[in-house]
Amino acid sequence: MTNKDIMTKGQEFVMNTYGRFPIAPVKGRGSYVWDANGKQYLDFISGIAVCGLGHCHPELVKVLKDQVDTLWHVSNLYWIKPQVEAAEKLVQISGLGKAFFCNSGAEANEAAIKLARKYFYRRQESHKNHIIVFKESFHGRTLATVTATGQSKYQEGFAPLPEGFVYAEYNNLDSVKKMVTKNTCAIMLEPVQGEGGIHPADMDFLRGLRELCNKEELLLIFDEVQCGMGRTGKFFAFQSYGIKPDIVTMAKSLGGGIPIGAMLASIEVAGGFAPGDHASTFGGNPLATAAACKVIDLISDPDFLKQVEESGRYLQECLSQITDERIVGIRGRGLMVGMEFNIDVKELIGLCMEQGLLLLNAGPRVLRFVPPLNISKNEINQGVAILKEALREL
Ligand SMILES: Cc1ncc(COP(=O)(O)O)c(C=O)c1O
Repeated sequence: MTNKDIMTKGQEFVMNTYGRFPIAPVKGRGSYVWDANGKQYLDFISGIAVCGLGHCHPELVKVLKDQVDTLWHVSNLYWIKPQVEAAEKLVQISGLGKAFFCNSGAEANEAAIKLARKYFYRRQESHKNHIIVFKESFHGRTLATVTATGQSKYQEGFAPLPEGFVYAEYNNLDSVKKMVTKNTCAIMLEPVQGEGGIHPADMDFLRGLRELCNKEELLLIFDEVQCGMGRTGKFFAFQSYGIKPDIVTMAKSLGGGIPIGAMLASIEVAGGFAPGDHASTFGGNPLATAAACKVIDLISDPDFLKQVEESGRYLQECLSQITDERIVGIRGRGLMVGMEFNIDVKELIGLCMEQGLLLLNAGPRVLRFVPPLNISKNEINQGVAILKEALREL
């Protein structure tokens, strides 16, 4: 089947929820994918920050093959060995207390919202159920997480939305302080906003939020679904800020491409959930958590993380050498980089794709770079050269 065959069938049978490019990647290795017509692409999207180790990493392939031969799924009514191991690893790295596993970023955030409310409910403070979230944020597509998302375009047509979310200005501590009431239970944000345009939180802002939460007895929830798992050069983005949240969520790179999400909480806050309060049939199943264990081991290696930091710096350096008056600025952390333009970047992305480079946007005017975390300098050079050529053509 060619790209066109797959696309034509897809248009007939797959629900129309994505504006899709007209190619069908069918194979991947490292930082490259090949479409159904055999054309090769350098993948600077990595499944939107999912394939942190690139495609079909040999060690991950081996772990998955072994697990496929051993046990795929048992219910969470039993103890699941790789799940327990993944939880221990994440607890040790984060300094938090306990883990809950699910299947996606939205589910991890949904779990965090429910835990924050249940925690105060159990403390006989059920009036504390409002969550301060942020404009331009993105937390997922379930009804609660799309409500937590501070972008009305994702909410349109889905009313009535759940109550209890208010929207503050990102990187503006005063705007948050003004919104705290006796009903506030938590503040929830991405340490680096992803979909909203790659905006890292300022040091003073995040530290200020931690102090505010301590003073007002609120929970600080970090959504590290996109910026966690080594993406910023630290295993968790919050580790660059010298503070710890009460709850952190993750997904995307955690399984290296195998669907998995997780929520970690301090021991005290995790006590908000008792058996029966929350669950997920597939959450943390043996196949997904066996993959996660390997991914966590590889990414948490200090040499690996140092390399991510260096590659991120190198990518930003290369991008900043491109002279083009349509470029407004470059920002990011590690290998989560945004290049802002004064034009819509859709056509540019299409041109890059034609020339063999997969890129995506973060909002209409920001080009987003979230390549595999183990991308080489050569591959970065190759990608930047294609981008330059596409800019010449645009
Ligand atoms: C920060 C953040 N949170 C949550 C989500 C939702 O994750 P999922 O699509 O796995 O539900 C995303 C997805 O892009 C994200 O970037």
